[in-house]
Amino acid sequence: MNNAVLVVGGAGYIGSHTVLALKDAGFLPVVYDNFSSGHRDACFGDHLVEGDLTDTAKLVHTMQQFGIGSVIHFAALIEAGQSVVTPLPFFQNNVAGTLSLLEAMNTAGVPRLVFSSTAAVYGNLTDVALLSEELPRAPINPYGDSKAMVETVLESCVSAYGLQAIALRYFNASGADAQGRSGERHDPETHLIPLVIQAAQGRRDRIKVYGADYDTPDGTCIRDYIHVSDLASGHVAALRHLLGRDAPGVMPVNLGTGQGQSVRQVIDAVRRVSGRDFIVEETPRRAGDPATLVADVRRAADLLGWAAVHSDLDTIARDAWAYAQASG
Ligand SMILES: NC(=O)c1ccc[n+]([C@@H]2O[C@H](COP(=O)([O-])OP(=O)(O)OC[C@H]3O[C@@H](n4cnc5c(N)ncnc54)[C@H](O)[C@@H]3O)[C@@H](O)[C@H]2O)c1
Repeated sequence: MNNAVLVVGGAGYIGSHTVLALKDAGFLPVVYDNFSSGHRDACFGDHLVEGDLTDTAKLVHTMQQFGIGSVIHFAALIEAGQSVVTPLPFFQNNVAGTLSLLEAMNTAGVPRLVFSSTAAVYGNLTDVALLSEELPRAPINPYGDSKAMVETVLESCVSAYGLQAIALRYFNASGADAQGRSGERHDPETHLIPLVIQAAQGRRDRIKVYGADYDTPDGTCIRDYIHVSDLASGHVAALRHLLGRDAPGVMPVNLGTGQGQSVRQVIDAVRRVSGRDFIVEETPRRAGDPATLVADVRRAADLLGWAAVHSDLDTIARDAWAYAQASG
């Protein structure tokens, strides 16, 4: 088995946790990152190469230098709201950048890829209780479009180049490493749990709830929160699957829990684990927010033998709170 794994975007939130899990599983991760949003103190790989996704020659050289057998690709611009305002950098980085990576993999003869896709490829499918991979891709913003486009590109590369790929569609990544080695540090931060934690820490004066009149049990939006350490183990499982003999060509796989949590439940969990109270302000709905997004997780279980084990809301909130408090 070829253990050397190139982790593109490995200095970021999900990438850094995955590098830790890869090391625990006996792989040799090489982090490749341009530090546009990643952190130098979150690089846990055996090696670090500073470089850009669009630098095909550097990617080829890196793959050859370290004898890379597989690639895990996290590098992307991730802020869906910003992608509506400035779509071109999203397509440039997320689509053109991935084409560069695929070109480099062809040149270096690396056949396996685990790609960071997203629940955003499902768009606004509000009439479906659990989102299964068989549903059509229907993104509603340029960020989701960019990920759906890459999934299409991967499908075309199977017969042409013999690519073996899994597109992991994450639901709401959250939490932090239980040992405090890494955690969520996006700038700007747009994700609910770190924002609620900032309110609990007194670093923001309130938390806004965008819409309390949805057709959900408590009126607030429901999402599927998945602990980042569970996401990390999902990547190890995907990689092991690709390294097995019966790997499919390209397969999308949801990584979620199959359980939905409302905005109010998240706020209550942070109150519980932090012991702090803070102001909650209800405001009108935001455009483009579906009421409910919850994963159908059967494929991840059947194909990868994977299930979330750290993703109950109090564990997520407790780990995220501990990391935020330790980071000051
Ligand atoms: N965070 C979530 O909830 C979530 C949900 C669904 C999907 N995703 C996807 O997961 C992946 C990782 O997300 P994250 O939250 O860890 O984001 P992040 O911003 O923390 O990590 C992205 C990493 O990629 C690097 N990077 C970006 N562009 C690059 C380039 N051109 N060349 C080299 N490195 C580059 C950044 O420096 C950073 O280290 C992304 O592809 C994102 O779209 C995230």
